[in-house]
Amino acid sequence: MEETKSPGFSEPIWVTRPRLPDLAAFAEALRPAWESGQVTNGGRLKRELEAKLAGCLEVGHCEVVANGTLALILMLEAFGLRGRKVAVPAFTFIGVIHALRWAGCEPVFCDLEAGTWQVDPKGVEVALEGGAEAILGVHLFGMSCRVAALEGLARRHGVPLLFDAAHGMGGRLNGVPLAALGDASLLSFHATKPFTTLEGGAVVTGRQEIAERVRLLSDFGFDSEDHVLFPGMNAKMNEAEAAMGLVTLPRLAEEIADRGRVAGVYREGLAGCPGLTLASLPEGLESNHAYFPIRIEAGAFGMDRGQLMAVLRGHNVFSRAYFETLGSDLPWYRDLASAQAEHLPESIRAARETLCLPMFADLPLEAAAKITAIIRVA
Ligand SMILES: Cc1ncc(COP(=O)(O)O)c(C=O)c1O
Repeated sequence: MEETKSPGFSEPIWVTRPRLPDLAAFAEALRPAWESGQVTNGGRLKRELEAKLAGCLEVGHCEVVANGTLALILMLEAFGLRGRKVAVPAFTFIGVIHALRWAGCEPVFCDLEAGTWQVDPKGVEVALEGGAEAILGVHLFGMSCRVAALEGLARRHGVPLLFDAAHGMGGRLNGVPLAALGDASLLSFHATKPFTTLEGGAVVTGRQEIAERVRLLSDFGFDSEDHVLFPGMNAKMNEAEAAMGLVTLPRLAEEIADRGRVAGVYREGLAGCPGLTLASLPEGLESNHAYFPIRIEAGAFGMDRGQLMAVLRGHNVFSRAYFETLGSDLPWYRDLASAQAEHLPESIRAARETLCLPMFADLPLEAAAKITAIIRVA
C-alpha cells in the first residue's frame, strides 16, 4: 500500500482533547469554596453538583467521587459483592477488570456480540449459570449494551444489574439517560470524557441505601465525626473538581452536538470503504459520541490496524487502539476458566481490529474530512 500524497497536519491531531471552560468562569465557580475555606470533605459545591447531576440523569441519587475507578470499586462493595463472581466483558478498559480485583470480585469474562460490539447476553447467561452473582455491563464507546436482554437475565437469575457508563454521560436509550439504567451505574468524569471534572466519577442509582453506602464508603466509612460504620476509603471529590463540573455541565448538550457533527463527517467519509466497518448504533440510542471506533479487517482493507495507525501518525494524526489489551490475557486473570481464548473469539478480534479515531468537540470538520481522505487512500 502506498502512503497517501494528501498533506498531513502541521499541528498534531490528538485522539482527544478536552474543551475546557474559560479559566475565569472556573475560578468564579470555585470562589465560594475558596472563600469559605472548605475545599473538600463534602462541600457545598460537591452537593450542588450531585443535585444537578441527579436532576439531569433523572435518577434519585448521584454520589460523586474522585474518579470512575473508585466509583466502580465502591459500587461493587455497596452491593456486597466482595468474594463473588461478576460477569463482565473481556473487551473493555483494563481498569474495569483491575477494579473488580480491588473490590475482591472475580471477573467472569464474557465475549462480545459480533454485530453490536457490546457484551453478548448469551455469554452473560453462561456466566450466570456458572455462578456469577452480578452483571456488570459496559456501555462501550458511547454506544449501549443490549439492556433489555440483560434486564431479563438479571431478573431471571435474581442478580443485580450494574452498568459501567464511564463512556456514556449524556447518552440516552429510548429516551432514558444511560446512567439511569439497571440497579446502579458508574460514570467517569475524566478529562477525556464529554463531561469532565478533570478527574472524577459517580455512582448513580435509584436505591437510597446503595447511595448512602457509597457516600459512607467514600469517606473512610465515617457516619459521624467519631464513629466508623464500614471499612471505607478516601474517594472524596474535592471542591475544585466539583466547581469544574458545575461550569461544564450546562455545556454538555453543545459538546455532544459538536461531537455528533464530527461523527457525521467520519460516517459519510468512510461509508463503503472496503475492509473498514463502522459501528452500528443500537436502535433508540442517542449517542454522546464519546469515541469513534472503527474496525479494520486487514485482508480486505489492505493493511492491518497497526499499519493504519502508522500511516495516520505519519500525517500527525494520533489514533488509539482501544482496547488492545484484554484482561483475559494478563497474568492475574489468564488462568481463569472464562479467560480461555476459545470462549472469547469476538473479543480477541475486537482487540486486534478496533481503532478509535480522533474525537472531540473542537475537532474542525475539515480536519475530520481530511482524516477520512487519508484513510481512504491508505
Ligand atoms: C469503561 C471504563 N470504565 C471505567 C473507567 C475508569 O474511569 P476513571 O479514569 O475516571 O477512573 C474508564 C476510563 O476511561 C473506562 O474507559
